[in-house]
Amino acid sequence: MTIQQSTDLTHAAMLGLGVFRPQRVVTNDEICEVLDSSDEWIQTRSGIRTRRFAGEDETLIGMSTAAAERALAAAGVDAAQLGCVIVATSTHPEHTPAAAPQVATNLGITAAAFDISAGCAGFCHALNLAASMVRAGAETYVLVVGVEQLSRFMDPTDRGTAFIFADGAGAVVVGPSDAPGIGPTAWGSDGSQAHVITQSPSCLGGHGSTGHPVVQMEGTAVFRWAPFAMADVAHEALRLAGVSVDELDAFIPHQANLRITQTLAKKIDLPDSVAVATDVIDAGNTSAASVPLAMEAMLRQDEASAGDTALLIAFGAGLSYAGQVVTLPPLA
Ligand code: UT7
Repeated sequence: MTIQQSTDLTHAAMLGLGVFRPQRVVTNDEICEVLDSSDEWIQTRSGIRTRRFAGEDETLIGMSTAAAERALAAAGVDAAQLGCVIVATSTHPEHTPAAAPQVATNLGITAAAFDISAGCAGFCHALNLAASMVRAGAETYVLVVGVEQLSRFMDPTDRGTAFIFADGAGAVVVGPSDAPGIGPTAWGSDGSQAHVITQSPSCLGGHGSTGHPVVQMEGTAVFRWAPFAMADVAHEALRLAGVSVDELDAFIPHQANLRITQTLAKKIDLPDSVAVATDVIDAGNTSAASVPLAMEAMLRQDEASAGDTALLIAFGAGLSYAGQVVTLPPLA
C-alpha cells in the first residue's frame, strides 16, 4: 500500500500584495497627552512621527479581510482558489478560536485556516510555510496575512511601548511561478530571552491582576540584540538565496525602530543604491503587519517596483526571527 502524494514540485512567489491601514492617524503629541514623553524624544529615539490606531469598526478580522481582498485582486486570484489561509498575529483577542477561519469565511471559502504566533517575525515565518506548501505541491495558492491591533494591548502610560506599537494589516497571495520568488528562509529563535517582550499578565492572570494583558518590552535589550543578531541572519538569507548584498534592489526589515534599521543596514554594508524601507516613520511598529505594510509603502511611493529583489528580515517576541530574499509582488 503506497500513500498517494503530490509530485508537482514547482517554484513559489508572492503574486499580489494588499494592505489595510486604519483611518485614524495618531500623532506623537496625541500620545504625549497621556504618556510622559515628547514628540522630539520619540522622533529622535525611534524615528516615529505618526502611527494609526484602529477604530471601533476596524477589527482585526475586518482589517485582515480587507488586506486579503486587495492581495487577491492584485494577484488576479479568486478566493475560491485558495487552499490555505495563514494569519500571523499576536493581538487576536482570543487564543481560541483562531482568526484565520473567520477571515476565510469573510472571503466566502472553507479552506484550511490557522494562526501562527511568532511575534514581529510572524509574517516572514508564515511566508516560509506558504512557500514550502506551494513548492511541495501541497497547495496551489496560499494566503498569508500579517495583522495587529496593538493599540488594544498597550498601556498608554508605559514609556517603553506606548509610542512604538500600532495597528494595520498586510496580505500576500503565494502561488506557483516560473522562477523562484521566495528564497530559502534563514530563521531561528532564542527562548532564553523570552522575558524581553511579554504579555503581562499571562492569560491565567495572577495575583492582583486586573484588566486584560498588555505588551511589555525591555526595549534596550532588544535594541542591543537586534542589529547584531539580525546582521548574521541577513547574511545567511543572502547566502541561501545565492544573492549578494549589492544585487538587492530593496531592504525591508521589520519596522521596529528607524535606528535599528539604520544600524542593521550599516552592519551588512548595504550599498546606498539599495532602497531602504522607512514605513516606521508614518506607521509605527505594527509587529507582524510591519513587513507587508513596509513593502506596500515602498511600491506605492515608487521606491521599489514589482519584480525587484528585496531582503526581508523580521525579529521580535520569542525571541523569534526570520529573513528571506524575495521578488516583490504587484500591488492592487
Ligand atoms: O518590534 C519588536 C522588537 N522591538 C523593538 O525592536 C524595540 C527596540 N527598542 C527600541 O526601539 C528602543 O530601545 C526604545 C525606542 C524603546 C527606547 O530607546 P532607548 O534609546 O533604548 O532608550 P532608553 O530606554 O535607554 O532610555 C534612554 C533615556 C532614559 O533617561 P536617562 O536615564 O538617560 O536620563 C529614559 O528614562 O530616555 C528616557 N526615556 C524616555 N524619555 C521620554 C525612556 N523612555 C522614554 C520615553 N519618553 N518614552
